[in-house]
Amino acid sequence: MASSSGIESILHENRIFPPAPEFSAAAHVKTMAEYEALCRRADQDPEAFWESVARELHWFQPWTKVLEWNAPFAKWFNGGKINLSYNCLDRHLSTARRNKAAIIWESEPGEVVTLTYQQLHGEVCRFTNVLKSAGVNTGDRVAIYMGMSPALPIAMLACARLGAPHTVVFGGFSAVALADRIQDCRASCVITQDGAIRRGAELKLKAIVDEALLSCPTVKRAIVYRRTGSPQQMQPGRDLWWHEEMSRASDECEALPLDAEHPLYLLYTSGTTGKPKGILHTTGGYSVGTYATTKWVFDLKETDVYWCTADIGWVTGHSYLVYGPLQNGATVLMYEGAPFTPTPDRFWIMIDKHKVNVFYTAPTAIRSFMRLGDEHPRKYAMKSLRLLGSVGEPINPEAWMWYRDVIGRNRCPIVDTWWQTETGAIMISPLPGATPTKPGSATRPLPGIAADVVDREGNPVPPGSGGFLVVKKPWPSMLRTIYGDPERFRQTYFSQIPGIYFTGDGARKDSDGYFWVMGRIDDVLNVSGHRLSTMEVESALVAHPKVAEAAVVGRPDEIKGQALAAFVTLQAGVPATNELKDELRAWVAKEIGAMARPDDIRFSEALPKTRSGKIMRRLLREVATGAEVKGDVTTLEDFNVISKLRAQEEE
Ligand code: WTA
Repeated sequence: MASSSGIESILHENRIFPPAPEFSAAAHVKTMAEYEALCRRADQDPEAFWESVARELHWFQPWTKVLEWNAPFAKWFNGGKINLSYNCLDRHLSTARRNKAAIIWESEPGEVVTLTYQQLHGEVCRFTNVLKSAGVNTGDRVAIYMGMSPALPIAMLACARLGAPHTVVFGGFSAVALADRIQDCRASCVITQDGAIRRGAELKLKAIVDEALLSCPTVKRAIVYRRTGSPQQMQPGRDLWWHEEMSRASDECEALPLDAEHPLYLLYTSGTTGKPKGILHTTGGYSVGTYATTKWVFDLKETDVYWCTADIGWVTGHSYLVYGPLQNGATVLMYEGAPFTPTPDRFWIMIDKHKVNVFYTAPTAIRSFMRLGDEHPRKYAMKSLRLLGSVGEPINPEAWMWYRDVIGRNRCPIVDTWWQTETGAIMISPLPGATPTKPGSATRPLPGIAADVVDREGNPVPPGSGGFLVVKKPWPSMLRTIYGDPERFRQTYFSQIPGIYFTGDGARKDSDGYFWVMGRIDDVLNVSGHRLSTMEVESALVAHPKVAEAAVVGRPDEIKGQALAAFVTLQAGVPATNELKDELRAWVAKEIGAMARPDDIRFSEALPKTRSGKIMRRLLREVATGAEVKGDVTTLEDFNVISKLRAQEEE
C-alpha cells in the first residue's frame, strides 16, 4: 500500500486475542471503556491528568506549574522537589515492603543474592556517602561501566540520591566508545568492576577503563567493585576499591530534595551521524512516567516476581529493571549472565526456580529460543507466569504466536511495548487487562500519549497507510535535550515534521486505531535490539588505515532482526583478502564494541553514488539482501559497481 509519505506497509494480520476474564477482573485497568475514559480525560486536560499521576509519588515540595512548553523544550512539575532514589527506597520503608525482596540477583554461575528494600536502602545510602567522600558533588557526571552485578543498581540509585547524573555505558562497548562518552559529558568519576562474567569467561572491564582513561583528563576517581577477584592494578590517587570504601561509610544518608528538572541521567544512543547523542532525562517527569507505565503495563501485584532480561546498559534496564519497578515496590529478578549458559534452558529453569510472574524480554531473544526448539521450554511447568512483555524492535507475528503458545501456554497476555531511549517510558502498548491484542501490533498509545501516524506535512494518514510515527504533545518522561547540543536536539526530533516530535520510525494505523510499527526509516539500525547508526560503523571503518570509503546498510536477519552489511573501498594498492575482512571486523569491535561488528563485508572498487556524490544506500540494501537490483540506476556514477558487488555474494 503506497501512501503520500512514500512508506509502504505490507504486513497483514487478522488474529485477535482478548484478555482472559480472570486476568481483567484483577487488573488495574479492566476494560477498553476504562482505558478510553482515561485517554479522554488525559486528552481533555493533560496537565490535570499527569498531575493526578504525579501525586502518587513522594514530593518534598509540590510543583507550582505542571508544564511549561516552550517547544521543543519542556519543563514538567517545575518548582517541585523530588528524589527518585527516595521514591524507589525510603518511601517503602514505612510500609510492609520494608522486608520485601527488592532485588533477587542470580549470578551466571548460579549464586543467588537477595536484597530487601531495607537492605538495598542501606547499601545505596552507604554508597552515596562513598561518592561524596570521593569528591562527587550534586550535578557532577558519573560514568558507570559495569556488568550486571547488584552493585550497578546500587551505584545508579546512589547517583540519583545525590543528584549526580549517571551515564551507564553498556559493558560491551570498547575503550574508545567509553572514552567518547566520558569526554562528551566530562565525567569526574567512573564506577566499574574488575571483570564481568559472561558465558563462563571474564570480560576485564577495569582494564578497558584504564585504557579509556588515558584520554579522559576530567576523571579524578575510579571506584572498582570486586566481582571476579582477578588481580588488578590500582592507580594510586585515582582508583578506590568499592568494598574498602563501603566498609568505612555510614548507612545513613538523607535523599536530597532535587528540582523536578534536575538532570537524572544521560544515556548515549545512536543517531544518524557518527557521534552518539547523550539523551538527557530529568528527575520529576521521568519518575512519573516510569512509575505509571510500570504499574499500567505490567499490572504489578504486590506478590509478583518481575523479571526484565534487559541489560541495564540500555534504557529498558534503566526504566524497567531499576526505576519503574522499584518505585512500584516490586520484587525484581536480575540475572547476570548469558541466556544459554550453561544450557539452552537457563531462562526456563530460572522462571520455575524463582516463580517469575511477569517476564519482559526482546524479540531477538524470542527468535533465538524458537530456533533452539520447543523442547527446552516445554520441559518446565512455568505455571507462575501470568504476563509476557516484548520490547526493542518489531516482533514478527510468528515469534509473537510462539511466545504466546510455548512460553505463555496460551494463558498469558502479551504486552508488545513500543518506546525509545528518548521517550524514557513505554508509549504504545496494550493494557493487559483491557486491550485485545493482535500479533505484531503494539496496539494503542497509553493514556496521555498523543502518538499518531502522519505524512511529511504532519497530516494524519488514512488507516492502513504507512507514515511517520510522531508524538504530538509533550509527555513527562520525554528527553529534555541532547546533552550539550540543544540545536541538534531540535534538528533531530522537531524539524522533520515541524513542531512535533518525530520518532524516526515508520508505522501504520489500522481501522481499529492499532499501531503497527515498521521500524526505523532513518540511518539507524536495530541489530538484536541494539541501536546502531550506519554512520557510526562507517566512521569506524574509514578510520582504518587501509580503508578509503565505506557504506553500511542493514539487511533482514532471522534472529537479529537486522544484520550489518558493510561495503568497503580500500586504499589504492591494498589487496582485498578474507584476512582483511576479519581484520576490519575486529577493528570495528575495538572501535565501538562487539555488537557493531559487521556481519558481511564486501570490497568494492567504488561505491554507487548519485551525481551529487550521495551514496545510494537503497541500492546497497538491495544488494545486501540479495534481491534483484531494480531501483533506478541511471544516476549511478559507476554502473559497474553494482554487478561487481553482487558477484561477491557467493564468497
Ligand atoms: C524500536 C528501546 C517495534 C523502534 C526501548 C524504536 C520497537 C527503537 C519496539 C528504540 C516495539 C522499540 N515495536 N519497534 N515494541 N520497541 N522499537 O532507544 O525502532 O534502544 O525507535 O529503546 O527500537 O530503541 P531504543
